[in-house]
This record gives sequence, structure tokens and C-alpha cells, in this order.
Amino acid sequence: MVRPLGIGLIGHGGAGKIHALGYRSLSSYYDPLPVDPRLVGVCTSSEMTGAKAQKEHGFEFHCADYRHLLERNDISLIDCCVPNFLHRDMIIDAIKAGKHVYCEKPLAMNLKEAEEIVKFSRQSAVKCQIVFNYRFIPAVMRAKQLAAEGALGEIFSFRGAYLHSGYIDPHRPITWRLQRDKAGGGALIDLGPHIIDMLQYLLGEFNSVFANTKTITKRRPSKDGQAVEEVDVDDIAILQLKLKNGGIGTIETSRFATGTNDDLRIEVDGSKGSLVFNLMDPNWLFFYDATEEDKPTGGRKGFKRIETVQHYPEPAVFPYPKSTVGWSRFHIASQYQFIKAIALDLPPEPSFEDGLAVQRVIEAAYLSSEQGEWIDLASLVPKI
Ligand SMILES: NC(=O)c1ccc[n+]([C@@H]2O[C@H](COP(=O)([O-])OP(=O)(O)OC[C@H]3O[C@@H](n4cnc5c(N)ncnc54)[C@H](O)[C@@H]3O)[C@@H](O)[C@H]2O)c1
Repeated sequence: MVRPLGIGLIGHGGAGKIHALGYRSLSSYYDPLPVDPRLVGVCTSSEMTGAKAQKEHGFEFHCADYRHLLERNDISLIDCCVPNFLHRDMIIDAIKAGKHVYCEKPLAMNLKEAEEIVKFSRQSAVKCQIVFNYRFIPAVMRAKQLAAEGALGEIFSFRGAYLHSGYIDPHRPITWRLQRDKAGGGALIDLGPHIIDMLQYLLGEFNSVFANTKTITKRRPSKDGQAVEEVDVDDIAILQLKLKNGGIGTIETSRFATGTNDDLRIEVDGSKGSLVFNLMDPNWLFFYDATEEDKPTGGRKGFKRIETVQHYPEPAVFPYPKSTVGWSRFHIASQYQFIKAIALDLPPEPSFEDGLAVQRVIEAAYLSSEQGEWIDLASLVPKI
């Protein structure tokens, strides 16, 4: 019989709900499971939302103070799904309490906080994984294999974008995502972690960045509609980046991209091949093999649509590899990776160190947009 793994979930909004559903259904997706995930406690900001979350997912109890989760001996994994300004203290307290920590992106509000978190995680034996769920798309996993095999050759250039349209309506009330003191930034810190991590994961580390940010709607109604509040974060950020290996490229993050839904796109051009992927069409990875023979007629050069669909490695057993894939499945694969790391004492991937690397790029980008100059990422590494 596998041992139980007690889970304490903090936050039950968009992210918390999908995580709770994921833990509940892991045993249907993976067989065997190395541990038995159990939803023990859920913490939200109020008694009412906590009671609702408990009922919805069958937690044993709810609370409005996360420290009640940390006190429990039957909880060994803390899952942090709260607004960004709460990550630092909750993560550090959880590590101090000897709990494994699974935390949503971004790791923290800024680089200083992220460094503090990583300092504590390095000093502890607990496992810590950040949620970069788009690493767990079969097409991205296949892209990683191709990049590692050298199928792209020398990287010439790349284009990455993560585009939403949810804040175009100027009457949409303010949320924590539009407040610097709660989010740490705007589109860049919200959407940027996914696309920055994906490109570093596939292509290697960035070296330097130059950024422009823009706020389009500067005032919005308060939540109750009774007041008007200032928006002090970016709606759009456009970054130019240089890779350590010499490649150059761009990343755009926007919450004002008219007509988009959840459009995370990458294009990579290399000396031996090119990759194209779009999250809105997640069943395929497009790959161009430049080493294929070129003939005036009869050649086979051209982009190939690789069918990555739902091809997860064992012990994934469900749904079938031919079934179309989607957002919740990437979270489930990410959660499986973490519980496996805990059960088998493996290094968690993506790690908090990966979260820190992303946070450094974001910090450099905000600095660049303020100062109007290129920022060398090495200048932001602490000299200790
Ligand atoms: N990887 C992804 O796909 C993804 C998607 C959405 C959000 N996120 C990340 O998840 C985090 C949460 O975002 P969200 O969209 O779920 O936010 P949300 O506003 O929908 O929900 C926030 C939750 O946190 C709870 N909360 C707030 N203050 C609290 C406190 N002091 N103690 C306990 N609980 C508290 C609220 O009750 C609520 O349940 C953010 O860091 C965000 O960047 C990631």
C-alpha cells in the first residue's frame, strides 16, 4: 500500500481550484501513483469561501489562517495559490515548518523576495517546485527533446508572446492583478513567467534585456463600483532579449491583445531547424528540418506537424494518447512530477531556482523600461 501524502491548499481561486481538482483526479491519470494524495485542509481569505472550498473538494477542514495548515502533522505538502504579495511569507513559513512547497508562478513579487525564498529552500531538505505548467504540454516536451538532441542547431532568433484580452474593457473593475503592491507588476509578471521560462527551458539562459512597457487604461472602477482607482502596472510589455549562446529575440506579454484568448506562441529559428507552437492549438508541434534534402522537384522540405496530442510517458494511463489535450491536463502532469519527486526523493523540476531565474529577467525588464537601456542580467546576481 502506498503511503498517504497530506495536502494543505492555500487559495481557492482560479489556480487553487484547478490544483484541488488535479490532486483529486491524479489516480485516474497515473497508475501506479507513488503516493496517495489526500486533500486535508484548505485555507482561503474568509470563513465563507473556505467552507465552500471544503465542500466542493472534500477537504477535511478549512481555515482562514494558513498557519493552521502548517501546525498539522498529517499535512506534508503546502500548495500556495494566493495573490503574489502573499507568496514570500507563506512559502518561507511552510519551509520552516518542514513542509514540501508547490507554489504558483511568479515565485514572488520581486527579485529580492525570490532570492530570500531560494535561500531558505537551499538550506532545507524539503522539496520545492514552482508551477510552470506549460512545460508539461506534450508538444513542449517534444520541443525540449528536439532542442536537446541538437535538431535546431545554432539558435539565430526567437519570438515569444503570451497574449490575453481580458482587461480591454475599461469598465472592468480593478483586481489585485492591476495593483503593483499586490501583484508586483502587470502583464509582464503575470503572463511573463510562463513564456520566459519556456524559452529559457528550450534555448538556454538569457544574457540581457531591453524592455518597453505601457499602461493603456490608467483608472478603473473599484470592486464595489463606488470609487475610481489608479492602475499602476503595465498592460503590455515588449522585451528584446539576447541569449547567452548568442541568439536574439523578442517576448511580448499583453492583456490588451484584441481577439486572443490564451495565446502563448513561440517561434524559434535555428541553423538546422525551426519550431513553431501555439497554446491555442496544443495538439501539434510544428518542426522544420533544414537538413532535409532540397530538390527542385520531389524534395520533402517543409514544416512538419508532429502529433504530440496527449502523448505522456508512463505511468500515464488516461485519457488516451489520441485524445485532445488541454489546460487542466498540463497542471495534472506538473502535480504528478512534484508528488513523484517527493515520493522517490528526486530533484523537483521546475525548481524554485528556475523561478528565481525568471524573476531576474522580469526585474531586469522593469528596470530597463524605467531607465531606457539594456540591462545585463549578471548585474542582478548577488555577489556572495
Ligand atoms: N499557472 C496557472 O495556470 C495560473 C493560473 C491562474 C493563477 N495563477 C497564479 O496563482 C496565484 C493565485 O491566482 P488566482 O487567479 O487563483 O487568484 P484569485 O484571486 O482567483 O484567488 C486567490 C485566492 O487566494 C485566497 N486568499 C487571498 N488572501 C488570502 C490569505 N491572506 N490567506 C489565505 N487565502 C487567501 C482567496 O480567498 C482566493 O481563494 C497567483 O500567483 C497567480 O499568478 C497561475
